[in-house]
Amino acid sequence: MKQEQPQEAYSLDSPELNVFAHIPVDNLTRDQAALELSRLAKTIAYHDELYFQKDMPQISDAAYDALVVRNRQIENLFPDLRREDSPSKRVGAPVSKGFKKVKHRIPMLSLENAFTSDDVINFFERVRRFLSLPSDQEFPIVAEPKIDGLSAALHYQRGKLRLAATRGDGSEGEDITENVRCIIDVPQTLIGKNVPESLEVRGEIYMNRSDFFALNQQRQQESEPEFANPRNAAAGSVRQLDPTVTARRPLRFFAYYYDAISGDTTMTHHEALENLRRWGFTVNPEIQLCLSIAQLQDYYNSINARRADLPYDIDGVVYKIDALQWQRRLGSVGRTPRYALAHKFEAEKAETILEDIAIQVGRTGVLTPVAHLKPVTVGGVVVSRATLHNADEIARKDVRVGDHVIIQRAGDVIPQIVSVVKEKRLPESQSFDFPATCPACGGEIVYVPGEVARRCMNRLLCPAQAVERLKHFVSRDAFDIEGLGNRNIEAFYEEGLIHSPVDIFTLAARDRESLTPLRAKEGWGSQSAANLFEAIENRRTITLDRFIYALGIPQVGSVTAKLLARHYHTLPNLLNTLQQAQDPTTDAYVDLLSLDGIGKNMAEDILSFFHEAHNLKVIDALSHELSIPAYALEMSTTSAVSGKTVVFTGTLTRMSRAEAKATAERLGAKVAGSVSKKTDLVIVGADAGSKARAAAELGVQVLDENQWMALIAAT
Ligand code: IVH
Repeated sequence: MKQEQPQEAYSLDSPELNVFAHIPVDNLTRDQAALELSRLAKTIAYHDELYFQKDMPQISDAAYDALVVRNRQIENLFPDLRREDSPSKRVGAPVSKGFKKVKHRIPMLSLENAFTSDDVINFFERVRRFLSLPSDQEFPIVAEPKIDGLSAALHYQRGKLRLAATRGDGSEGEDITENVRCIIDVPQTLIGKNVPESLEVRGEIYMNRSDFFALNQQRQQESEPEFANPRNAAAGSVRQLDPTVTARRPLRFFAYYYDAISGDTTMTHHEALENLRRWGFTVNPEIQLCLSIAQLQDYYNSINARRADLPYDIDGVVYKIDALQWQRRLGSVGRTPRYALAHKFEAEKAETILEDIAIQVGRTGVLTPVAHLKPVTVGGVVVSRATLHNADEIARKDVRVGDHVIIQRAGDVIPQIVSVVKEKRLPESQSFDFPATCPACGGEIVYVPGEVARRCMNRLLCPAQAVERLKHFVSRDAFDIEGLGNRNIEAFYEEGLIHSPVDIFTLAARDRESLTPLRAKEGWGSQSAANLFEAIENRRTITLDRFIYALGIPQVGSVTAKLLARHYHTLPNLLNTLQQAQDPTTDAYVDLLSLDGIGKNMAEDILSFFHEAHNLKVIDALSHELSIPAYALEMSTTSAVSGKTVVFTGTLTRMSRAEAKATAERLGAKVAGSVSKKTDLVIVGADAGSKARAAAELGVQVLDENQWMALIAAT
């Protein structure tokens, strides 16, 4: 029989365990080293558990690596102190946490969310307009449960499973082939007729609720920490480095999409699902083909009512346009396809107490009140913060510190305060006074009547804004520097190591000269410091669109940044032209405003950003550290319209304006909103007015809709 081990009272925060953590390895006495090894063994085991079992890491990879390195260094100095439970001894211990990376051939997209039936109606109205369908034409839509798991891509060659990857950031995931081989619903070899030679199947890895409960019960008996919900259990199991552990976890897989690399003639999504079934995959039995929006609504209601009876967790319904031809025409915007929509179930609610209201200062100085709550579980997740949006919202809901409040959480949306339980309000409670000065810098706060936001106007001197700008600069769609997470940015700012973006790129050189190098700092080691410097080094070459986005120009998100990069092509050209455009009588100004997607208000924000001397100085300093190649069009460069500037005008009959624009851009053209000397082609539909005249005056080539269709069809 297994001997009961007395539970050791142990908290990671115990001061007596942490006293030697700051002492450099070389200075440790033998006794201190022994205690340090004991602390590290426990700490690393604790973080392994959070990372590998719970999929809920509490520290950064860099901080984790630093612990492992410190452990190894101490063991090298005192080999005889190496413990039985040392992390370096553990069989199959995931000392390096690496899965191989896999680039997705086609990006793995996410879905636009709808919360109300109006959202759903609007979505399909947009689809109808995009495809120019008459208002009475019904179009078939497939409705599927939205499984609360994690998506995966499986690659088959000649019917054999060759590679499986997680979604990751959508363009690059992790190789989980060996783990996926343990999932019973995933066929190793495909069966049936017409299996494509080369096939990529996508779907959701999940765990049934009953299996999740059984697994947790077993873990409880084994004194292992329990998983918070089936999704976490599935994610934690897939990310096991040891596939024999995954094999013991009851994972499942629903297939919902495939791409046959060539030779597939399937016309509809529902036929595609049928094919997947014939080849041996499990396709969700609840999936239904609907012929009207009303049918979608019925499906949504009926599955919502049966939600608790399904064997697995779902968090909504996914609608997909059935005709694959239409799906292709609709394409995608950013990270979401135009042909699919997630209709989420109503948010889960809970009651808790509002303990405090803190004011957060954003990148552009906007002040956002944040509710600090007594922690409460909502939909399986502990919530202790909620957004209060702005001062008006606080006043409108009359939210006061000390109030009992109802909060809700829908999917990945930040939790919100829905209402106050007024009956439980204490008589001495007082309404919230929004601060009159910036809590971070004491600067003046400006409140523009009619605009909800209050702003700290101390743009350049407010430390909170500077930190937020730096966080934005290194974020995923910007420089994407691994290891420079929010906490590190804050710490580096505080220590004076990074105050401006350019400091990031001089950090390594300064560190080499420093008396207190990064590797000697708490939470860091040689390896993690080296990793950080390498990650920074890898970003010295950056695409122009990411660079523009990273600058944090108000209103300029990654879509607009791409648009600007595509239009101006190089950084010097962008700087030059926008300098000229400061004068609204110039062509450069007209040219900026003619860009489809840039309105007057946004143009003003862009111009004033490039007017500010400080910003120009930062850009100049960065350009000495970086290499920013001319922007390469990701689109076709071989089509008849690539590189040309086109303008659509009048009513098009064969496709909507939105589709025409998306098609032209896909073929490498720039679409402008107005005709100028730079326009190469004007496509005129019915009732074209002044733009057609302007084209004639400027001698720009004019095509009618049919000529345009013929031109693009030829490419
Ligand atoms: S389709 C382009 N279908 O939801 C379409 N996704 O919020 C991408 N999901 O990343 C996915 N059930 O992990 C699709 N029946 C279903 C789904 C589903 C669950 C997940 C999937 C995706 C996420 C997007």
